[in-house]
Amino acid sequence: MIKLGVNIDHIAVLREARKINDPDPVDALGIVKRAGADQITIHLREDRRHIHDEDAERIVQLSTLPVNLECSIDEEIIDIICRLKPHRATLVPEKREEVTTEGGLDIVTYAERTQAVIEKLHANEIEVSLFIDPDLEMVKQAVALGAEWIELHTGTYANIYAMLNSNLSHTHHTIQALELPRHTLQEKLKESLTLLKESAEYGQSLGLKVAAGHGLNYQNVTPIVEIGAIEELNIGQSIIARSVFTGLETAVREMKALLQ
Ligand code: PXP
Repeated sequence: MIKLGVNIDHIAVLREARKINDPDPVDALGIVKRAGADQITIHLREDRRHIHDEDAERIVQLSTLPVNLECSIDEEIIDIICRLKPHRATLVPEKREEVTTEGGLDIVTYAERTQAVIEKLHANEIEVSLFIDPDLEMVKQAVALGAEWIELHTGTYANIYAMLNSNLSHTHHTIQALELPRHTLQEKLKESLTLLKESAEYGQSLGLKVAAGHGLNYQNVTPIVEIGAIEELNIGQSIIARSVFTGLETAVREMKALLQ
């Protein structure tokens, strides 16, 4: 069964709407575990717009599930991660003005810096995942840089899926496909799935552990689950959105049931 990491930083997004201390993402730890999730995922952003250092510290200390901390390769952030010692650090690109992460980390252009960060994290006994676009060159580079995991960016797939199957003409992703005819979108969806499958299988064949995430929800997750080489998904927005209506435990259970 594919593993589920739940991005609980969306709970902190809600808290930050009022800048008070409620709801507290720490309160989600027990509920998410009880519902069958396998991992807690949080993103400590450079601008601290949702998760704060203190949240990250309490989550790493109190979680009885492994904690996957997403972060940029910024020096100050990496020092914090090394002090906190989560089970895993997932290196992601970060732009201050973006609503959410908008693509994979370019580990070819930033090879030297990424490698130095990986070595530092390893010296602190933190395993490393690289959040990359589904691209064979990036997968190969992840091996060369010494990462244990890759997390394939599913945002493009999710975005095309949304355009095809909902009344959304676009999402925050910057794909230039707003006016594309239906059959072209269908082809693009197929292409995006093929890229994910090929990248996952290539990564697995090279000895990497393969995760995926971004934009996955209760409607679009099944074709991703069917890619056997992917062993873990990290999902946030759709689970926390559903939890407003169903409660967090049910929302996590319903997602976990789709990962069978
Ligand atoms: N994986 C990574 C690396 C991410 O940056 C995010 C977004 O925080 C997710 C997974 C989860 O994405 P979503 O909230 O769209 O499910």
